[in-house]
Order: sequence, then C-alpha cells, then structure tokens
Amino acid sequence: MSTVTASTGQAGAVSAQAISEVGREVWRLCRDLAPKLQFHGWHHVSFVRDKAVHFARRNGADVPLVEVAALVHDVNYMVRRNSLPVDGRALRLDILARAGVPEHVAHRVDRVVEEAEMRTRHRGISREAQALSDADTLFKALPVTPVVLAPRYLEENGITLRELAHKIVGEQRAKHDEGYYFYDPEAAATYSRWATANLELWSCIVESLDDPTVTELLSAVS
Ligand SMILES: [Fe+2]
Repeated sequence: MSTVTASTGQAGAVSAQAISEVGREVWRLCRDLAPKLQFHGWHHVSFVRDKAVHFARRNGADVPLVEVAALVHDVNYMVRRNSLPVDGRALRLDILARAGVPEHVAHRVDRVVEEAEMRTRHRGISREAQALSDADTLFKALPVTPVVLAPRYLEENGITLRELAHKIVGEQRAKHDEGYYFYDPEAAATYSRWATANLELWSCIVESLDDPTVTELLSAVS
C-alpha cells in the first residue's frame, strides 16, 4: 500500500478538448507506425489510459493530467526502439503543445511519465504517477501478456528473450518483494497473484536459459 498522498499540483489544468486532441494525435501516430509498435501500439495506450483514469479517480490524483500522461507515456517507442521515456520527451512535449496544453503543465505531464517508469519508480512517487504506474504495471502482469504479447515486445524492440527476461526480473522483483508493485490497495488485492505468477514465470525463464537443453531447443526452433 502507498504511504504517499502528494499530488503534482493544481487540478484541472488539462482541458477535455486538449485530452481529446492528444488522444487523436497519439491514435493517428499509433496507426501510422503500427508495424513498429507491435507491443506499445494503441491497444497498450488505450488500456493504460482507461486503467490509469480508474486508479486516478480512486486515489484523488488530478484525473485529466493522468489521462493525458497515459496517452503520451510511451511515445519514446515511436522515436526509437528499446528506448526510455526521456527519449520521447521532445515528441511528448510537442504533441502536448500542439493540443494546447500549457508549457508548465506539459512539463508536469512529462515528470509524471518519468516518475512512473518501472525501472526507477519508488514508494514516494506522486499520486498521478502511482495511477499511471499501476495501469502500466497491470498490463505487464496480465497473464496473457507473456503468452500473447511478449513475442511482440521482442520483435518491436529488437532484443532477445534472455534480455527481456533479465529486464523484467531485474526491474520488477524488488518492487514486488518490497510491497509496492501496485500502489492502489484494490489493485494489489486483485492482481498481486497475477503479478507473482508472472514474475515467477520470468524468473523460471531466466533460470531455464542457463540449461543447455533449453538453449539447444531454442536454436533449433529459431
Ligand atoms: Fe506503457
């Protein structure tokens, strides 16, 4: 459970019109770049947007800010494969500016995206970042993700199964074990079993890749 209640600032600074324009632009980019966004395409963005809004309504965060942050949180994958949120900052700020989001608010959105990043997030992130993080983390923890979507992640980002397995276990294990895998208590109660199973699966994949019979099998099928 989260112990943090800080918000990133004044609520209501992102208008409904701006959200809708950002949504249209991100949808258009996802459509045009669909062949290179097999994992982080509109299916991911819209899932994270819907869930982030749900979690933001529960934790008292600035809901419009969270919604717009969810819409632009993964634009870095449009700029460069296997990249970090910071690599999408220029595009993120540009999309927000063109939708009429004031510059200081756009920078808050960018900070929320940075705060919510799995690799570096911690217990003390803002409520807005918690809502975004829970939504993005839930997508990763869905039982269907390793089965249906992980191959798409490998393809999109040009990395190996070994690299992905190490990335997942390396980035997620401590958050899980230290009790802030999810910030929202309802999300933790509902989805922790999935998260635990998912992490266990990826830990087993890491382990199995040290077994020569598994690596032989993989070279035979690839
Ligand atoms: Fe994401």
